Amino acid sequence: MATRSKLSISLALTFFFFFFSTTFSFTEDVELASLLRFKSSIDDPKNSLSLWSNASSLHHCNWTGITCTRAPSLYVTSITLQSLNLSGEISDSVCNLPYLTHLDLSRNSFNQPIPLHLSSCLTLETLNLSANLIWGTIPDQISEFTALKVLDFSSNHVEGKIPEGLGSLTNLQVLNLGSNLLTGLVPDVIGKLRELVVLDLSENSYLVSEIPSSIGKLDKLEELLLHRSGFHGGIPTSFAGLTSLKVLDLCLNNLTGEITRSLGGTSLKSLVSLDVSQNKITGSFPGGVCSGKRLVSLSLHSNLFEGSLPSSIGECLSLERFQVQENGFSGEFPVGLWSSPKIKIIRAGNNKFTGHVPDTVSLASALEQVEIDNNSFSGEIPHGLGLIKNLYKFSASENGFDGKLPPNFCDSPVLSIVNISHNSLSGKIPELKNCKKLVSLSLAGNAFTGGIPKSLAELHVLTYLDLSANKLTGLIPRELESLKLALFNVSYNKLSGEVPHSLISGLPASFLQGNPGLCGPGLPRSSCSSDRSSFHIVALLVLLICLVLALAASLAMSYRYHRKKAQFKSTWRSEFYYPLRLTEQELMKVVNESSPSDVYVLTLSSGELIAVKKLVNARNVSSKALKAEVRTIAKIRHKNVIRILGFCFTDELIFLIYEYTQNGSLHDMLSRPDDQLQWSVRLKIALGVAQALAYISKDYVPHLLHRNLKSTNILLDKDFEPKISDFALDQIVGESAFQSLIHATSNSCYTAPENNYSKKATEEMDVYSFGVVLLELVTGQRAVEGESLDIVKQVRRKINLTDGAAQVLDQKILSNTCQSEMLKTLDIALNCIAVAAEKRPSLLQVIKALEGIIRSSTEKLPVSA
Ligand SMILES: *[C@@H]1O[C@H](CO)[C@@H](O)[C@H](O)[C@H]1NC(C)=O
Ligand SMILES: *[C@@H]1O[C@H](CO)[C@@H](O)[C@H](O)[C@H]1NC(C)=O
Ligand SMILES: *[C@@H]1O[C@H](CO)[C@@H](O)[C@H](O)[C@H]1NC(C)=O
Ligand SMILES: *[C@@H]1O[C@H](CO)[C@@H](O)[C@H](O)[C@H]1NC(C)=O
Ligand SMILES: *[C@@H]1O[C@H](CO)[C@@H](O)[C@H](O)[C@H]1NC(C)=O
Ligand SMILES: *[C@@H]1O[C@H](CO)[C@@H](O)[C@H](O)[C@H]1NC(C)=O
Ligand SMILES: *[C@@H]1O[C@H](CO)[C@@H](O)[C@H](O)[C@H]1NC(C)=O
Ligand SMILES: *[C@@H]1O[C@H](CO)[C@@H](O)[C@H](O)[C@H]1NC(C)=O
Ligand SMILES: *[C@@H]1O[C@H](CO)[C@@H](O)[C@H](O)[C@H]1NC(C)=O
Ligand SMILES: *[C@@H]1O[C@H](CO)[C@@H](O)[C@H](O)[C@H]1NC(C)=O
Ligand SMILES: *[C@@H]1O[C@H](CO)[C@@H](O)[C@H](O)[C@H]1NC(C)=O
Repeated sequence: MATRSKLSISLALTFFFFFFSTTFSFTEDVELASLLRFKSSIDDPKNSLSLWSNASSLHHCNWTGITCTRAPSLYVTSITLQSLNLSGEISDSVCNLPYLTHLDLSRNSFNQPIPLHLSSCLTLETLNLSANLIWGTIPDQISEFTALKVLDFSSNHVEGKIPEGLGSLTNLQVLNLGSNLLTGLVPDVIGKLRELVVLDLSENSYLVSEIPSSIGKLDKLEELLLHRSGFHGGIPTSFAGLTSLKVLDLCLNNLTGEITRSLGGTSLKSLVSLDVSQNKITGSFPGGVCSGKRLVSLSLHSNLFEGSLPSSIGECLSLERFQVQENGFSGEFPVGLWSSPKIKIIRAGNNKFTGHVPDTVSLASALEQVEIDNNSFSGEIPHGLGLIKNLYKFSASENGFDGKLPPNFCDSPVLSIVNISHNSLSGKIPELKNCKKLVSLSLAGNAFTGGIPKSLAELHVLTYLDLSANKLTGLIPRELESLKLALFNVSYNKLSGEVPHSLISGLPASFLQGNPGLCGPGLPRSSCSSDRSSFHIVALLVLLICLVLALAASLAMSYRYHRKKAQFKSTWRSEFYYPLRLTEQELMKVVNESSPSDVYVLTLSSGELIAVKKLVNARNVSSKALKAEVRTIAKIRHKNVIRILGFCFTDELIFLIYEYTQNGSLHDMLSRPDDQLQWSVRLKIALGVAQALAYISKDYVPHLLHRNLKSTNILLDKDFEPKISDFALDQIVGESAFQSLIHATSNSCYTAPENNYSKKATEEMDVYSFGVVLLELVTGQRAVEGESLDIVKQVRRKINLTDGAAQVLDQKILSNTCQSEMLKTLDIALNCIAVAAEKRPSLLQVIKALEGIIRSSTEKLPVSA
């Protein structure tokens, strides 16, 4: 009896398992087949879907981009194939996957109309086709995607009107149609999408529409992004209903009318960021906009606002960015803002604000930038300002500030830009010793008295100094000669005596004019009576020579020391990514003969040439870690990036082995007396270098910065195609060894001014170095020639003379046809070497500009050529 019931239970179980496993393998087969069919209609140039195969030993749940549920059994729920450069057709075979909820094909190259057939995927909740080449209109049948919660068609070429059918997608939580070519009116049905949390219609410049007031019904909406589209008319009063709204971005439209009470009412309690800048909005700004005290960013700039700002804005305790510049605001500036605990940016220039900067500004400890130029502020510059440790820029020109500058005025350790020109400040200029990062100081047009403080000479990165139109007296301190000034304007003061030689030689005299007491060559009073200066110069020279000799001796000693160590203590290890046979003897030759700053060319016994770069292995990392670091940069493949063939290392040294290029470095090429680089070749070199920099910093993962770009590091192959080398050495030797390498070997004129104080390397710094290389290409001069001024100074000075720009161009290759291109390129170079990093263009902008020049030059070619 007992046996029988056991048997029947086990029979039942067997049956159950049989049944279960057949259904299981049945859906499994369907899923597998659907995925393979999906793949078969896709072009996959990088073979990213190689695992998607019948032959694959992997279960399809483990294929690239597939996610499955775990229970009750395995079903595909999500396909995510981003950034694989896929194209071809998006097949509806995925709709046979019974549990598919998520399809993300963003950042590919699908070039087709909106795949409406996917509406047969009944379970699909997320469809992301962002950043493809999808074109055509959104048909009314979009309404068939009834299950969708997230629809992202952003950054495509979708055109035409937004269809009424969209109103049926009542489950939508995210609708992103941004960066497309949509036209016409935004339909009212959008107000039916009551579940919406994010609505993005931004960057559709052909939309010509009012903002539908039905949007005000979307009480779950948290982000409303309508910037850079063609919205006009007023901001609807219905916005009062957007009770969950956190981010409202309406900037760069054509909005007009008074800003309504709705925006300021207590309704927008959740608001974190409000941007209505660059419209034509009028009226006064309502109070209460941060009644929820969550507002972090408020941007109203470039509108037609008038009247005073509600002082309650000073109570927005979370506020970090406050930008109201370029309006017609008047009245008292909300004084509470100055001591707001999180405020970072205050921009209020070009209004008619009155008021003062209170001493309690010291409480605004996060404050980084103040721009309040061209208003009617008054009172003294407070002592509290110097106590803010983060202050980077203080620009308050053209106001009514008066009194003396407090002695601690310049104590903020990162202070870089000060412009308090055209106020009514008086008294002596205080000793400015603590702001070692000051780049630009403008005190012009005040009533300062006394002398120019000598301590200015200790601010080593000071580049722009404008003290003109004051009442300064005394001599121009000789110490200032040590600064690398691009502008030195002391005109219209009461200075006297001899002008230090280097301040006179490179600069237009007009910067000294209006000081009848000054004397020196080129000035109205060319001879100064006393003549002791030449003695000083001789003494200085002798001292300098001694110093240089001493330095050279100590360098030579330490070099020898390293050599010994390298020879006797080390065992060589190596890793090659390319078949190379390198003997220890050949390596020793490199040890003996190469210097740390150069790339050494070595002929192997096979007759093959390689280039070798010697680095000091200062970091104590395992050889495994070192190999991983080198591999990271050796994997880069780009036609303008030198290939790393391998590397050898000991505990003391690392030798990076580069492919050899026939035509040496750009530096060598420009140094040759028979320099034969024609303009078109130089332009190509510039573009190649910019593309390489953009590739390593944008496309390559991990993103790398070059950090040591100069013409000696740009190698040219037999067709003069440039290849950048010596990049990202910080990755190999570590930050501190990299810093000492750079300081020991590079000439600082390639180095951006902020490099001296900024801890973090940035793209802007690479752009600066690139600008210097561009200058070399345009002028045909090397960055530093002998003892004369470096190229940056030279060009900056010549440019400001009449016709200066044309004089700067390389006369060896100048012709009528290429002059305008050279001038345009010079202009790009000057932008790249802007003193303020944020004014420099991005690499992508540089590439665009250079491509533009190249395109226009090829179009100009005569047809017969
Ligand atoms: C996927 O791979 C993991 C590890 O590689 C393995 O543990 C798992 O069983 C695989 N899944 C399937 C469904 O084969
Ligand atoms: C993507 O594919 C296109 C052609 O389909 C090709 O021109 C482009 O270089 C590819 N991009 C990448 C990053 O592979
Ligand atoms: C769609 O994909 C893009 C790019 O991969 C991503 O940035 C975006 O957040 C996705 N959209 C949604 C709504 O998740
Ligand atoms: C704003 O309107 C003017 C004329 O009404 C038009 O020329 C301009 O292109 C519009 N700007 C935007 C951003 O739509
Ligand atoms: C100063 O601001 C006013 C607006 O208040 C503007 O009209 C004027 O152009 C500005 N001046 C300068 C020099 O920008
Ligand atoms: C300082 O302000 C004046 C007046 O607004 C302006 O002309 C000048 O360009 C500014 N200087 C710098 C270095 O920004
Ligand atoms: C130098 O200062 C004077 C007086 O302020 C001014 O007129 C002149 O334009 C300034 N020159 C430069 C190049 O800034
Ligand atoms: C040179 O002229 C440019 C504008 O062309 C100006 O921005 C720069 O301040 C001037 N520099 C000097 C040294 O005069
Ligand atoms: C390197 O220099 C050492 C002595 O300084 C010498 O003995 C050795 O032969 C040199 N090696 C090569 C390959 O030149
Ligand atoms: C390098 O690190 C090892 C352990 O990781 C340590 O024993 C050795 O002393 C270190 N050497 C130097 C020069 O710091
Ligand atoms: C550049 O390389 C090619 C190929 O090796 C060579 O023929 C040419 O002379 C080289 N040009 C210069 C200027 O060195």
